[in-house]
Amino acid sequence: MIPFEDLLWVVFYAALAALVVAAVALGLLYGLRGRSVATQLIVVGAATVLATISGILVISFMMLLNDHDRAVVLAVVTSAGLVAMAVSVLLGRRLVAANRMLVEAVRADRFRPPAARLPAELAELSRELEAAYDRLAAAHEREQALEASRRELVAWVSHDLRTPLAGLRAMAEALEDEVVADEGTVHRYHGRIRVEVERLTEMVDDLFELSRIHAGALRLSRRRVGLADLVAEAVAGAEALARAKGVRIRGDVREGLPVRVDAGEFGRALRNLVVNAIRHTPSDGAVEIIGEVRDGEARVTVVDACGGIPEADLPRVFDVAFRGEAARTPGGGAGLGLAIARGIVEAHAGRIGVANAGPGCRFEVRLPLTV
Ligand SMILES: Nc1ncnc2c1ncn2[C@@H]1O[C@H](COP(=O)(O)OP(=O)(O)OP(=O)(O)O)[C@@H](O)[C@H]1O
Ligand SMILES: [Mg+2]
Repeated sequence: MIPFEDLLWVVFYAALAALVVAAVALGLLYGLRGRSVATQLIVVGAATVLATISGILVISFMMLLNDHDRAVVLAVVTSAGLVAMAVSVLLGRRLVAANRMLVEAVRADRFRPPAARLPAELAELSRELEAAYDRLAAAHEREQALEASRRELVAWVSHDLRTPLAGLRAMAEALEDEVVADEGTVHRYHGRIRVEVERLTEMVDDLFELSRIHAGALRLSRRRVGLADLVAEAVAGAEALARAKGVRIRGDVREGLPVRVDAGEFGRALRNLVVNAIRHTPSDGAVEIIGEVRDGEARVTVVDACGGIPEADLPRVFDVAFRGEAARTPGGGAGLGLAIARGIVEAHAGRIGVANAGPGCRFEVRLPLTV
């Protein structure tokens, strides 16, 4: 039995020897910090073996081991050390292989997490990479959609703004050259020039609004507004147009909680919906604006009697410059109204949708309620 004091000395010298080896190993690891994990693992394995051997050598100098015992212990430690080194090398190679798989997956066109089981840290990295890749792909898609709509808009501007301008120019020239001289035609030309200018002004205004929406430059000054007020205003604003077309218009507020909106911008979005509804409803038809609270959201629904939108057009009606076939007539809309409505509603963290229902279609705006 070894005396307690001797045991303390053994611990002290063995720890001292191990510390010296550890210091050298740490220095080496610092120098190798940029190298492969496999190399660093070999250093760790070698340091463990060397620390054990140096401890044994130190205590054999203290005469606590005879030559025979020392040879036996050294042989055991050396063979165990060699096995440990081999395991380190294997582990290092597995790590290197897993890392290579991950690198190859990243280099591929579309990142897919490697099918093989990865060590926990690399698996986490792989999950994060997948999420980052998905975000990147979504951003890329958005960017492309935006680019496409920008191109469409440019094409639209060159066509739809130039055509009425050409008409205006022709009329102005005819008046200037006195090609038209009879009072009735001159009067008619003046009237048409005014109407066309008003329409162009509206289009330019819509274009400006749309470009602000696309640039994310829409500054909303939100305040609490009652749902009932919003609906009443939309009805009042469209009454004249409805009367002129012989369409009945009615507001119906089932529950009038307040919402936080920019009344001007939101009113504009609603107006676009209501004007469309009236424009597409035959005379003697009815348009209804319903305000209600359902599933914790405020909803404003515009129901008309347009006869339904073709199923294929439904997902496209909110696209910039989209116009249904019937609307592609000179003097028709510019196809900006719904794109603007959607932009404004989404800027309010709301959603807008359309479905065919009954004798027409229903456009529905949903907004989160104020708390
Ligand atoms: N209430 C509706 N009923 C039937 N079709 C509709 C209705 N609202 C919109 N649409 C269809 O969706 C298209 C796009 O509507 P949007 O309001 O964006 O453009 P627009 O009315 O043609 O022009 P703008 O509003 O710029 O004057 C319309 O041309 C029409 O075909
Ligand atoms: Mg419209």
